[in-house]
Amino acid sequence: MSIAEKYPREIETIHAKYPADQKRSAVMPLLYLAQREAGYITREAMTEIAALLDLDVTEVASIVGFYTLYHDEKAGKYRMQVCTDLPCALRGADEFLQKLCENLGIKVGETTPDGKITVEEVKCLAGCHRAPMFQVQSGDGLAYHENQTVESAMQVIENLKAKQATREAGVG
Ligand code: FES
Repeated sequence: MSIAEKYPREIETIHAKYPADQKRSAVMPLLYLAQREAGYITREAMTEIAALLDLDVTEVASIVGFYTLYHDEKAGKYRMQVCTDLPCALRGADEFLQKLCENLGIKVGETTPDGKITVEEVKCLAGCHRAPMFQVQSGDGLAYHENQTVESAMQVIENLKAKQATREAGVG
């Protein structure tokens, strides 16, 4: 189903925020909308957004490729993005990332077998003095977790899984 069929009201609201001669500016919120459901933006969605905004598909794809919060490949339900940039590395981010992956039985960039968690390595997330830190990206948006240990990170994961299970059971 196209995003226009699935989210007609949201698309109307997004369009209403921009003057007709600047409708290209709606590309960012439309990409966010397209990514909300599956956690990544399909080629079909990029094509649709390009047509909605009179853009070239390659322009839309280049925006997706440029911003780390947009994704063009399927991943886990939750993306755990650990910063290992230099200031965080000095506070143990590399070891934290390695042990976290060991605990989950995956390598950096991989997804847990249950399809729930993908661990990614990213650059500065502006929480340098509170490393180790990571953000969790999902359909719910972004959540920051600072001053982490592997134990506290695993607890974050357990909480996410519990929340998801509650949703799937239809009681959340
Ligand atoms: S270097 Fe890691 S948050 Fe800034």
